[in-house]
Amino acid sequence: MHHHELDGFPQGFLWGAASAAYQAEGAWNVDGKGPSIWDGFCKQPGRTFQGSNGDVAVDHYHRFREDIALMAEMGLKAYRFSVSWPRLYPDGRGPLNEAGLAFYEKLIDTLRAHDIEPILTLYHWDLPQALQDDYGGWESRRIVADFERYCVTLFRRLAGKVRFWVSLNEQNYNLTNAYQLGTHPPGVRNRKRFFQANHHAFLANAGAIAAFRDLVPDGLIGPSFAYSPAYPASPDPRDMLAFENAEEFTNHWWLDTYCLGRYPGAALAYLRKTGEAPEILPGDRDLLAQGRPDFIGINYYQTLTYADNPPDGETMRGINTTGEKGTTPASGVPGLYKTRPNPHVETTNWDWAIDPTGLRLGLRRLSSRYGLPILITENGLGEFDRLERGDLIHDDYRIAYLKDHIAACREAITDGVDLLGYCVWSFTDILSWLNGYQKRYGLVYVDRDERDPKDLRRIRKDSYFWYQKIIKDNGGNI
Ligand code: BG6
Repeated sequence: MHHHELDGFPQGFLWGAASAAYQAEGAWNVDGKGPSIWDGFCKQPGRTFQGSNGDVAVDHYHRFREDIALMAEMGLKAYRFSVSWPRLYPDGRGPLNEAGLAFYEKLIDTLRAHDIEPILTLYHWDLPQALQDDYGGWESRRIVADFERYCVTLFRRLAGKVRFWVSLNEQNYNLTNAYQLGTHPPGVRNRKRFFQANHHAFLANAGAIAAFRDLVPDGLIGPSFAYSPAYPASPDPRDMLAFENAEEFTNHWWLDTYCLGRYPGAALAYLRKTGEAPEILPGDRDLLAQGRPDFIGINYYQTLTYADNPPDGETMRGINTTGEKGTTPASGVPGLYKTRPNPHVETTNWDWAIDPTGLRLGLRRLSSRYGLPILITENGLGEFDRLERGDLIHDDYRIAYLKDHIAACREAITDGVDLLGYCVWSFTDILSWLNGYQKRYGLVYVDRDERDPKDLRRIRKDSYFWYQKIIKDNGGNI
């Protein structure tokens, strides 16, 4: 559709920016925090770009007041951050570490004092190492109760202060890396174990949401999904089938289960034949049905384009972690689908398709299929930035990316999508899990690199001043 006139952004639209505990906080062993699975994993040789890790990250733990002052000056309406489970429960369960919780209380109070709405993510991948060691983390059903207990602590203590909650961040992307590609901890490559661990994560998500209903009746909660809407490589019926397979296995597998409480039929039937389907026990379906969220959180970076993949075809391959453009291999599941570059869109240096229209159509697909409001919990551009003399960062490429994606949001709102807000990934530069510190996303530059934390100085990029203006105009000039 081509609209003659676009609707504006609604009043109260959450113009935000986001981060995650492991990527920003540092202070990995401070104030009683226990180790997470990432603390150990990043230190294994060859796991991350140039061996980078989040021991110090950008030291947000100690500099959050300075960071929030920059948010306030920008006029930011919302800040999305995650709570580190092992800060609260160093062993994953057992006694609460009050000092860990106190950090988040201070953070939230400081945000509130500046009229910045906190958006709290309960889990952004940093599982307590103790639970991995005790029972294999997500591979055990025991995690459902432990996760609920951790969440209930936060619900009880923060119900009056936090209205927007994100349950699991990118369960799909994180567990695919953890159990299919072996590129996130615990580094397993086994599809059967993947689908089972993923099933437990669904149960944990639903259990947390069910508890939330009683404890935070005025709050809103939903998962954040790593959403790459699928395109067919061509109208060849074989590619169309591959596209359908990809939609079902990479998107609906999660979104249907979150929003409709059941797995998509054709995918489940296929996995039953291959012996990879998760074990679903009596009671699981009832619990999943209690997990319907208030909104769908999406992290949108790109669309993916799919083609037919024969049974002896491409297998799953990892992402480009170097920023050497054009080095990403085709990746797929034999017999189902494989990725193919889309000749109609530009890509970043990490080979991610730049596709604002994909955001618009993705928002429409989800809104029509599930009938829920949507919160964009992440969108942004990871690129090399250059710090120029006089403390200037001219990131016009990032401004162009954000501008086009915010314009796509406005089109989607005009299409009828109930969009609650938009969070730029990320507020400051932070650690990019596998890509070190050189793949920068921030509106604020942080002066450090892979090996040297330097002085961690904060410097406003051109995109900072640009976004400040967008917020001030409530997106009016887009
Ligand atoms: C999402 C995550 O996968 O995308 C973030 O929720 C992550 O934590 C972001 O940093 C960008 O990905 P990457 O790999 O470029 O850092």
